[in-house]
Parts: sequence; C-alpha cells; structure tokens
Amino acid sequence: MNKRKIRITEDGSTTLELIGKDENFHSTHGAIQESEHIFIKNGLLKKAQERKEISIFEMGFGTGLNALLSGLFAIKNDIQLNYFSIEAYPIELELIEMLNFSERLELSIELERQFNALHLSNWHQRIEINPNFSFEKRKIKLEDFKFPKEAFDLVYFDAFNPDLQPELWTEEIFRKIYQAMKPQGILMTYSAKGKVKRALKAAGFSLNALPGPPGKREITQAIKLVDFKT
Ligand SMILES: C[S@@+](CC[C@H](N)C(=O)[O-])C[C@H]1O[C@@H](n2cnc3c(N)ncnc32)[C@H](O)[C@@H]1O
Repeated sequence: MNKRKIRITEDGSTTLELIGKDENFHSTHGAIQESEHIFIKNGLLKKAQERKEISIFEMGFGTGLNALLSGLFAIKNDIQLNYFSIEAYPIELELIEMLNFSERLELSIELERQFNALHLSNWHQRIEINPNFSFEKRKIKLEDFKFPKEAFDLVYFDAFNPDLQPELWTEEIFRKIYQAMKPQGILMTYSAKGKVKRALKAAGFSLNALPGPPGKREITQAIKLVDFKT
C-alpha cells in the first residue's frame, strides 16, 4: 500500500491521502460529513430503530472515524455496540496524532482518550471502550479473513475505490459477507458503480439506491432480505 499523508477536507475535518494514487480515505467534500451520512444515518440509525444491541463489521479500520462516530451514537442513544473491524495496513502513530476529529467533534478529554484507545488497543483482543461500546480490531486482509456465520447486523464496507482495489468488490467477497450477516442485516457502501451493484445482487443482496452526501449523487444500501415464510 502507498504512503499516506494528512489532508483537510471541506468540512474542516482531516482525512488521509494515498500519495501518488489520487485516492483518499474519505470524501474531500468532508470526512466527518460523509461518514455520518453513509454509515451512521443510513446504516446505524436504521438498525437502532429495530434493536438495542448491534454487531458491526467494518472493512478497513483506517483512521477509526467510523468507529468513533458509531461509539458516540451508541452513547447518545444508549444502545450496545459490538464493533469488529479489520485493517491490513495500519496507520502510523504520527499520522493518527495529526487527525483532528476530537477537535472538530468537540470531544471531552475522556472521549478523546476513548478514541485513542481504539488505535492503541491490541490487535485480536476485544476491549470495553465504555459500557455502550465493545471493540475489536484484527490486522488481516479481507481476502484472508474467515468470517463467522450470521454474526453481524450491520456492515460498513469502506474499502478503497473499486478501480483501485477491484479484487475486494467481487461477488465472491460479497457472498462471504452475506453469509456472515444476520437476516435483515444492512451493508452500507459509498460506491454506486454498476459493477459493484451487480456483484452485490449476485451475492444475494436487495439494493436501495440512496442520495449521497455532498459531492456524491448516490450511495448503496444492500439488505440481506430473508423471507421468514419460506
Ligand atoms: C477508504 S479507507 C477507509 C478507512 C476507514 N474506514 C476510515 O474511516 O478511516 C480503506 C481502508 O482499507 C484498508 N485496506 C486496504 N486494503 C485492505 C485489505 N485487502 N484488507 C483489509 N483492509 C484493507 C486501508 O488500509 C484503509 O485503511
């Protein structure tokens, strides 16, 4: 994977840029704004309307922004989150220290400590970040990960662009994820590319095209619809 550097997005929050690839970890129109819209509003909020305990699988821990926003949502709405994230190329501590999410979100010292704990926690070890938020990250490639069966209510599929990493957006990968999701589980992704949607459909998902955050017309919500009558 290429080297990374800090970049400020249009909502004032930081992201990382893959040097020489014209690829960023988040939308340059606003990192926090994008994560809030795609993963929290259209994913976590929807699940939280039907259940109080939610298991999340995240593809690509990266800066930890999705985990941070999910943890804040869990506290605010008093739900229990079991968060599981994988990451193949962890970010160096010097870059993590330059992220400004704590400042932009006006986190208390304690919440800032909890965000740092996500990064500092051991790989392959579940920890209780706070009473609403249990967290585990694994250092592994998505392609090598052995998924558990029917374990997750919600999936944040946050890989790099399908043009950069086509091997991660395949029917085969989506089939494994489908198996790992509970019935009525939701997968959220920022991509609305035709080949991504075809692969998701072929893996068994039902798709909803939803309006994207600023700078993006459409995003994809994929649901594991299971008809209990059959
Ligand atoms: C678009 S970034 C999103 C990161 C993260 N969700 C965030 O909010 O910062 C994609 C992430 O996937 C990671 N990644 C790339 N290839 C991977 C692979 N084969 N398996 C697991 N993670 C991978 C990258 O290192 C990067 O952290």
